[in-house]
Order: sequence, then C-alpha cells, then structure tokens
Amino acid sequence: MTRRPRRNRQTEAIRNMVQETTLGLNDFINPLFIIEGQNQRVEVNSMPGIFRYSIDTLLDEVAACVDLGLKAFAPFPSISEQQKDKYATESHNPDGLFPSAIRAIKKNFPQVALVTDVAMDPYSSDGHDGIVENGEILNDESLVVLGKMALTQAQAGADIVAPSDMMDGRIGYIRRLLDENDFQKVGIMAYTAKYASAFYGPFRDALGSAPKAGDKKTYQMNYANSREALLEAELDTAEGADYLMVKPALSYLDVIKLLRENSHLPITAYNVSGEYAMVKAAAQKGWVDGEKIMLETLTSIKRAGADAILSYFAKEFAQYLKK
Ligand code: PBG
Repeated sequence: MTRRPRRNRQTEAIRNMVQETTLGLNDFINPLFIIEGQNQRVEVNSMPGIFRYSIDTLLDEVAACVDLGLKAFAPFPSISEQQKDKYATESHNPDGLFPSAIRAIKKNFPQVALVTDVAMDPYSSDGHDGIVENGEILNDESLVVLGKMALTQAQAGADIVAPSDMMDGRIGYIRRLLDENDFQKVGIMAYTAKYASAFYGPFRDALGSAPKAGDKKTYQMNYANSREALLEAELDTAEGADYLMVKPALSYLDVIKLLRENSHLPITAYNVSGEYAMVKAAAQKGWVDGEKIMLETLTSIKRAGADAILSYFAKEFAQYLKK
C-alpha cells in the first residue's frame, strides 16, 4: 500500500498538526437569561448549569465570563405575565428589564459585543413572535413592533440586534429604521434559517414564552427544507443583514454548510437549549461523557462552516480551555 492515511494519525503531535478545525474563545456568543429582582440566580430546570440572573448578579456572571475570555453575549429577558400584552408593548419600554440590562452591561463592560434578541414572544400574552389576530400571525403589523423594539435596544447600547421572529421583510424594515435614527453602526444578525423546532423547549421554559395556542409553523421554517434557507439568505442579504444565522445547529449542519458555500457573510449557528439539555441529561445519567460530547458537537458546528456559535456551553468550554 502506498496510501496509508493512518500515518497522519499516529501521534498526538501529528494529529494536531493536520487538524482542520479548531475551536477558540472568539468563536462563541454566550446566551444569558435575565429576570426581575435583586440577588436572583435561579437555575433553569431543564438546563442544568444555566441560570436566570437579576441585573446585579448578571453583572457578576458577565465579569466571570469576561475573565475567562468570552467577549460576546446574547441576553434574553424573562418578563412577568402581568407585563405581557397582545402588542408586546413592554418590548419597547426604554425603562424595561431588557434595555436596563443592556445599559448595565455596556456601562460596566463597554468592550463586550452585545447581540440582542428582537422578537415579540417573551413580551406577548399570546407567546408568539408576532401580533395574533383570530389565530393568525400578522406580518406587516408586527414589523412596527419589531422596529420599535430594535430601536429601543440600539438606544440602550446593543452592538448587534438579532431578529429571531421570521416575519417577512423584517431585516430591511429594521435596517431602515436604525439608519433613519443614526444607528448606522448597529449591526443586524438575522436569524435567517430558523426552523420550527422541538429543540426550543427548554428555552421556552426558561422564559415562560411558549405559545398559548397553536405552533410557530406559519413563520418558522419547515425542518424538511433546505432550498428555502437559500431563499431566506438571499432576502436577508439584500435587505442588509450583516450576519446570517442557522438555528438549531446540530440537526442542521447541512444548512450551515449550504449557507457557508453560498454567502460571503459571516454565518452563525445557534446550538439551542434542547441540544444543550440532551447532552446534560445523558451525561448526568452517566450514559455519555458530557465534556467529550460538548467538544465533538461544537467542533462539528464549526467544521460545517459556522464562524460563530451561540451556545449554552460557551462558559463551560472557556473553563475547559483554562484547565
Ligand atoms: C424567540 C427565540 C427562541 C429562541 C431564541 N429566540 C424561541 C422560539 O423561537 O420559540 C430559542 C433558543 C433556544 O432554544 O436556545 N423568538
């Protein structure tokens, strides 16, 4: 045999030398859950090791993550039921929990990149990403709310707004509004290929944001489709997106690769709550080695073509690197 691929796998030094994909701290965006109150740090039942923080303890958590070398964060608010309504009015209250948290983080850690979620569901009494009328999710009417929300977040100091709602035309609408208000520098990370997925279950537990009726299939994508992701990518790009996202990540590595090969924009992938929960649950049972599964799955997302990964494993990965 002249060709023996095993020669390149013989020793760790050789294996490392020919390794094609590496993971580093710069690859990660760390999601954070925020709640009202003081001195709160409440673990999410279905996400061991992930907590909901009040703004004071959130700042300690960001400090710890910054010390570990993490530089980008994606906060999400948990809003009380009394503050929710049909129009998600609380989403553009400049004194609300979320803008206050954004201001507090940017004041204490001006160097971090804050990627803020734009969608109605955490603030909507219907638990949907748009306005619900007779069971239908209205598109153009919802854009007005999303625009106000994005603007409120930009005013609070967000570096990048991330519309995760999947309404048509939202990227262009938000881009125009930001520019008209002198926020040319605020970027847009489009949740471009966001699938209607059962993998979001633990996140909806964490925020209490599950739909009160129906599902999200009339706006989030059918998981059987990948050409449709190219269509969404084309539109988001034309409308001014600075990043394209694929979500979830692990069942959609082919879609990550597809967008990578068809776009010059940075591709981000969201390693979502259910993906985290499954690894944690199996590891707690002793059925898999949690740390090895973490490294293997995160590497696979990068190998598929993601430039950055939103992952609940971000901090654990940073701690692993420190070891
Ligand atoms: C809200 C939003 C969701 C997630 C991020 N932003 C939930 C949903 O669309 O129902 C899910 C993230 C995760 O599961 O980790 N639009």
